[in-house]
Amino acid sequence: MANDYGQQSTLSYNKYLRVADLIGLQDCRSDPQHHDELLFITIHQAYELWFKQILHEIDAAISLMGDGRLAAAARAMQRVVEIEKLLIPQIHILETMTPISFLGFRDQLNPASGFQSMQFREIEFASGQKHENILNEFRADEFAYGRLQKRFSSETLGDAFYAALRARGFDAPAVVESYDEQKRKEAYGKRARAVLEVLTHFEDRYEEFQLAEALLEHDEYFSLWRSHHIKMVERMVGTKRGTGGSEGVGYLKATLDKKFFPELWEARTYLDTRHGGAGCPFAGHKETGDTESR
Ligand code: HEM
Repeated sequence: MANDYGQQSTLSYNKYLRVADLIGLQDCRSDPQHHDELLFITIHQAYELWFKQILHEIDAAISLMGDGRLAAAARAMQRVVEIEKLLIPQIHILETMTPISFLGFRDQLNPASGFQSMQFREIEFASGQKHENILNEFRADEFAYGRLQKRFSSETLGDAFYAALRARGFDAPAVVESYDEQKRKEAYGKRARAVLEVLTHFEDRYEEFQLAEALLEHDEYFSLWRSHHIKMVERMVGTKRGTGGSEGVGYLKATLDKKFFPELWEARTYLDTRHGGAGCPFAGHKETGDTESR
């Protein structure tokens, strides 16, 4: 592109990454500016950037599963997991802020809260945790509501995974909300048994296995993030009510039991070497030395 003097403006690091725009996006609200507010904003904005990347990978994984490319979908989910691993220690940078220092600008945030993070909810919805009451919380925010509505009615990671298993011959029925309790239980049991089959014969079903493990890890690390966030919140504000209006730590603790893929967890309970799989990954591999006599 030519500039005002007819010269070609060459690309640079700062131009490509729009660094000037990026470092101009941290609007502190405290006046006079509180030293720690910049950290608070930076951490949240860094989370939102990573949430964007996670959604990008989840969308890719869903599409790849639809094309039957399970190994590539597993790679996308493994990237999601690596990002989530990074997001956990990021919480602890906030703990270098003292509780009294946080209270120095906390009131300026009211009534904003992480509870309103659109992209966090998009990740939950795309992972199968869709709640209409959460969607309705965003009604006043046209942009967020539009995106969340779309996610609410879109295929989830779980939908795509079980459809991919069906395409490969497994009896793994779809989740159908309109089913009665009994039919839902039956379908759930079949999905768990399909996973059991994958876990048992993981060498023959390696692509399905890798994908199932990456999905489970996504569930695991998301939940670990929740635990670390709760501990940090308690350390920072005790059991004070949240700026978003919830009862605070008590509310957050109730979210800990959320599972994206319950069938993947449940299958472990019923896993048994009698199902015909190799069982121990090292079965058939003769140990050497004195390990047998231990
Ligand atoms: C000093 C730091 C922080 C405090 C004291 C804090 C406190 C809270 C509280 C009390 C809630 C419950 C909702 C409410 O009533 O507000 C909440 C929810 C939430 N926070 Fe934080 N938070 C902090 C940092 C963060 C960071 C860095 C993130 C990263 C994005 C984050 C993301 C969230 C999310 C996503 C929720 C909703 C969780 C759910 O409903 O499952 N928070 N936070």
